[in-house]
Amino acid sequence: MPTTKAYKGMAMEGPIATWYAKITQKDVRRHKLEAQRWAQKIAPGSRVLEIAPGPGYFCIELAKLGQYRITGLDISQSFVEIARKNAAAAGIQAEFRQGDAANMPFESESFDFLFCQAAFKNFSQPVKAIAEIYRVLRPGGTGIILDLRRDASQAEIDREIENMGLGRLDEYLTRWTFRNVLLKNAYSLDEMKAMAAQTSFGTCKINREGVGFQVLLGKRS
Ligand SMILES: C[S@@+](CC[C@H](N)C(=O)[O-])C[C@H]1O[C@@H](n2cnc3c(N)ncnc32)[C@H](O)[C@@H]1O
Repeated sequence: MPTTKAYKGMAMEGPIATWYAKITQKDVRRHKLEAQRWAQKIAPGSRVLEIAPGPGYFCIELAKLGQYRITGLDISQSFVEIARKNAAAAGIQAEFRQGDAANMPFESESFDFLFCQAAFKNFSQPVKAIAEIYRVLRPGGTGIILDLRRDASQAEIDREIENMGLGRLDEYLTRWTFRNVLLKNAYSLDEMKAMAAQTSFGTCKINREGVGFQVLLGKRS
């Protein structure tokens, strides 16, 4: 398993970031449901890091549910600015910073809970990113990676896109992106296990979920 790959996706800056922020706002239910699911497991006062938050919708929904100290780290300066604006408009407290998942600008053991959704497959140094997740989590902390499965079927993807509530053009562009970009970059469950095994986590728990998977990375106390 290679530890690096060329970044095959388009850099998500400028108009691409604005388009993504617009279409995923229509699917805010996804972020609400994820925030509800994880808020039950995160103690009040916890330090939470979302890697690659994009427009920041998950951070915003989580901040509405509890007293957490939330930080988002994204490589795209456009998304950092969009997320800051969205957080201010929603009236929630969260810090958004620009930086690379494979080289995080944080002290070791800074976070209790770490979340990364729909982004891991884009990372050019995925194993290094998992090693960084280990480093920035405090002992006893948990990291969650949600992403698309390489073996997701076209029928499953079509159902997922239908549920996003998009207009005809955005639905067509999203379907094209899934087929021609996202699936090609996506990992299998075995590949995710092999990458976790190369880091100090040693192992991880993986559940299949719809078109994707959920990877649980626990840092022992
Ligand atoms: C498809 S968007 C997902 C955004 C958000 N998590 C969501 O669920 O809507 C992928 C995100 O990964 C970010 N990204 C890609 N490579 C990154 C890296 N090496 N470090 C941090 N963020 C990265 C992009 O800028 C973008 O915000």
